[in-house]
Amino acid sequence: MEKILVLDFGGQYNQLIARKVRSNSVYAEIVPYTGISVEEIKERRYSGIIMTGGPNSVYQDGSPRCDLSLLECGVPILGICYGAQLLAYLAGGAVNAKMESAEYGKTRIFTEKCALFQEMPEESICWMSHTDQVTDLPIGFRTIAKTDHCFHAAFCDEKRKLYGVQFHPEVNHTVYGEKILSNFLFHICGCSGDWLVKDYADLIISHYREELAGKKVLLGLSGGVDSSVAALLLNQAIGENLLCVFVDHGLLRKGEADFVEETFRRTFGLNLVRVNAQERFFKRLSGITDPERKRKIIGEEFIRVFEETAKHIGTLDALAQGTIYPDVIESGKGDSAVIKSHHNVGGLPENIGFKEIIEPLRDLFKDEVRIIGSKLGLPAELVWRQPFPGPGLAVRIIGEVTPEKVEIIQQADAVFREEVERSGFQILPDQFFAVLTDIKSVGVKGDARAYGYVVALRAVSTDDFMTAEWTKLPYEVLERASTRITNEIHGISRVVYDISSKPPATVEWE
Ligand code: XMP
Repeated sequence: MEKILVLDFGGQYNQLIARKVRSNSVYAEIVPYTGISVEEIKERRYSGIIMTGGPNSVYQDGSPRCDLSLLECGVPILGICYGAQLLAYLAGGAVNAKMESAEYGKTRIFTEKCALFQEMPEESICWMSHTDQVTDLPIGFRTIAKTDHCFHAAFCDEKRKLYGVQFHPEVNHTVYGEKILSNFLFHICGCSGDWLVKDYADLIISHYREELAGKKVLLGLSGGVDSSVAALLLNQAIGENLLCVFVDHGLLRKGEADFVEETFRRTFGLNLVRVNAQERFFKRLSGITDPERKRKIIGEEFIRVFEETAKHIGTLDALAQGTIYPDVIESGKGDSAVIKSHHNVGGLPENIGFKEIIEPLRDLFKDEVRIIGSKLGLPAELVWRQPFPGPGLAVRIIGEVTPEKVEIIQQADAVFREEVERSGFQILPDQFFAVLTDIKSVGVKGDARAYGYVVALRAVSTDDFMTAEWTKLPYEVLERASTRITNEIHGISRVVYDISSKPPATVEWE
């Protein structure tokens, strides 16, 4: 199988690079620069290598390096930002910090004719983020792009197929970034592009079949697409040795718990245990109003329930989770700031009682997970199900969570979803739900004063949930939902529609 090595020097966008390569139907794997030798690189027969960016300066002692012989192993290389500087430095060029010529953000770039920049105009916009830059090219290299402040914004040694770009082709702000990456893959590395995301399923299955041979694994199944796909993958890898635990924390949508149990036990024949833990979750959430505390408590309680369930079962070796890549970023792993502690990542307590955590989908984005889900036979209804947060309705009830509030919001949410789904709206929002605000407001019902909760309706359209736009639902749909919610559900006096996008708001209210 043809594949690209993404040699990781600690940059922020490494997953994005791998993802952009994969979206060209070429498999890419990320390996830290310390994790592979030049010998292994040769043995694994990569079609090309992408050396990533990173926060260091190549001329400092102890900065991440790779062996000079990498440049001689005959595999085409594309160095990006730090990767480009390292490439030039190893080959005998010079790199300097030039504060006056640092560039951040959108920058005009002028490119020359070469394999990397074919089928793009001479002038375009790229995304820069650097202080250091290559000041002298190594022998055998030529400059193929410059900006107003960076004389060697891209360079190459065509004979050895070594290319370096100071800018970031992997981010969308680089207008011809995708073209540049596909030029590298198809015109420089000679890839054919016959890999499909769904093939990744086979790779994951065979990887875990080997790694988990003879081990017993516990998986927290929520019924969302991520944990469902993780369950089906691991089920194919280790069968009976996978035990799925479905925790009903009492914070699920109306009718959901029974649906999940039915689907996975009956349709897929998974080894499934349902734990009814509603009471203990409500008890722990009693009096708690801070969103992060709620998230942490729920994440922790989940693990405790797993641990206790596991104790009844006997020895278990690992805990599996359906974490996907955006969960990892938004929970502040690596260099990113903590936005929210998604309970399946940041909410994990330190002292979890499992030796190992398995996250088969950790490198994937949602759309990739869905493709794999379809390949594994997950029904469309589940594959295209809107995401539902691990902490459930607790983050859609502002303030303290009580069973009564859960019941109110479950009903309002069911009405809203029903109205949106039957609206005939061409493209459904990617996520739509109701939120119980902590505000009560005065209304009038049947000549009498009513004093009930304000419910907010939220609908967003998005590709990857990292950014999202509020959906312009037709007024008629909103009107029907509002009328039904205030008429049919006791305890609600008013309905409002959330018209905030992400950023600055987030999708969930907490
Ligand atoms: P936010 O609110 O962060 O949501 O803009 C982005 C997407 O993530 C979902 N979400 C979660 N998913 N555990 C999850 O598995 C969580 O703790 C969590 N919090 C938010 C949210 O529903 C949206 O799809």
